[in-house]
Amino acid sequence: MSDVTPASPLRDWLADPAAGQVLRGMLAAQGQSEDALSPALGLPLEQLVRLAGETFPPGLMEVLVTAAETGVVPEELPIAPPAATAPAAEPAASVEIGTPEPWTEQVTPGRFDGRTVVVTGAASGIGRAVAARIVREGGRVVAVDVSERVADLAADLGGSVVPVTADITAPASAQAVLSAAGGRVDGLANVAGVMDDDAAVHEVDDEIWDRVMRVNVDGPMRLMRAVLPGMLAAGGGRIVNVVSEAALRGSAAGAAYTTSKHALVGLTRSSAYQYAGTGVRVNAVAPGAVATGIPVPAPAPYGSARTARMRVAIPGLAMAEELAASITFLLSEDSVNINGAILPSDGGWSVA
Ligand SMILES: NC(=O)c1ccc[n+]([C@@H]2O[C@H](COP(=O)([O-])OP(=O)(O)OC[C@H]3O[C@@H](n4cnc5c(N)ncnc54)[C@H](O)[C@@H]3O)[C@@H](O)[C@H]2O)c1
Repeated sequence: MSDVTPASPLRDWLADPAAGQVLRGMLAAQGQSEDALSPALGLPLEQLVRLAGETFPPGLMEVLVTAAETGVVPEELPIAPPAATAPAAEPAASVEIGTPEPWTEQVTPGRFDGRTVVVTGAASGIGRAVAARIVREGGRVVAVDVSERVADLAADLGGSVVPVTADITAPASAQAVLSAAGGRVDGLANVAGVMDDDAAVHEVDDEIWDRVMRVNVDGPMRLMRAVLPGMLAAGGGRIVNVVSEAALRGSAAGAAYTTSKHALVGLTRSSAYQYAGTGVRVNAVAPGAVATGIPVPAPAPYGSARTARMRVAIPGLAMAEELAASITFLLSEDSVNINGAILPSDGGWSVA
């Protein structure tokens, strides 16, 4: 009998004698090894199941829990989900490499006391984790999302959340956000964003291009334009734009997404320069691969085959809370001397 639970990382499940055998058997049935799962080793099993959605064999979680509890490997194994990117086997290390310690969020009580922060994309993924962390650290969050699920966030986190259901591409939404804030805005986290279909330029679909530009560039600019006069009058404010690995290189996504995130870097740097010395600081965080379930359109054949080649260099999937740690650092006073930085929060992908 082992002590793994659905919240235990995949690494522990693989180490469990019976459950590990189930997982390996399931992969072997598809000609895969456990290397296929290496980017996700630190993720809690339950999160992996949530993310995998229908690609996870129905009932596998129950089979794993029973195997761990009883130590017995069932005769019939569930069918494996399609494998994640499989990195090449690494050569044996000449030094001992231990198991990384699991990370847990370190809340700093009171870091956002008396602060109001606008967070877009707050109904899901990284935006939700940012909003939750700010509330836990004493702040008030104006939580903006096109999805009505943003109201659930307010129900979960209580009165410190003011939910605003709005499409950031609609010109009127910036005013709705300011009205909801009802006064001073100390911080803005432009997190909402959408992916493209990995299309290379000759495959670009106008509708996807327009949507990606409107959500990833126009929306953040309009919100910055709305909050900046108040921040300048108050003598300070912090803006964090969430970009991507695709803002740092040409191989992480399609032409539309890559262009949009490079544009957001330009907006960040231009604003950091223009407002330097006013107390307003503008920075960006570039996430690598994050386990959020962000919708991905059906892949364009040529471009997606090209980008797939580079994904083997991803060191691992991060949890949304790990990105929230980077973003809230830049939203807080601890980032006092940082302005115009594009902070990769990618486990080192950008140095590969
Ligand atoms: N998940 C990743 O691997 C990853 C990697 C690099 C960068 N990013 C960036 O991180 C940010 C957050 O991504 P996520 O993974 O948390 O995605 P997500 O899909 O989980 O969350 C994004 C949220 O934005 C909202 N949204 C989309 N369009 C909107 C609009 N027009 N108006 C208001 N809200 C809107 C969605 O409803 C959703 O709740 C995005 O900017 C994305 O480009 C994500």
